[in-house]
Amino acid sequence: AAPVDVDVTRVAPGTLITVNWRGRPVWVLHRTPQMLATLGKHDALLLDPDSQTDQQPKYARNATRSVRPAFLVVEAVCTHLGCIPVFRPEPGAADLGPDWPGGFYCPCHGSKYDLAGRVFRNVPAPVNLAVPPHAYHGERLVIGE
Ligand code: FES
Repeated sequence: AAPVDVDVTRVAPGTLITVNWRGRPVWVLHRTPQMLATLGKHDALLLDPDSQTDQQPKYARNATRSVRPAFLVVEAVCTHLGCIPVFRPEPGAADLGPDWPGGFYCPCHGSKYDLAGRVFRNVPAPVNLAVPPHAYHGERLVIGE
């Protein structure tokens, strides 16, 4: 399948867009400094905080799971049974609990992921959300190879 081009300047801070790559939805989330500051504060609650499993290219196996810290590029496909999770950026959301740092919630069976797509413990999803291959050419993000 052909790579997909995204102009990242059209993704406002704190928001995400969804693009289609290989028939799968992919999110491009523009993380604010406040969002980035939540990462690293809840590692003990995560199943695989250091992304040991093969769910991202080597260049995205880092603390933010990204090439550019401000942008998370991740498949919007729950690793349990493939539902599309919901973007829930509000820390401490009433229905997700006081420890909720903001992230993604899967309404199908309750899996939770943080703002780097890392899965929390004690949910059905077995691994972190997948990061597709991607690269930047200036402000142009190219998803796919
Ligand atoms: Fe997401 Fe089951 S498909 S929790």
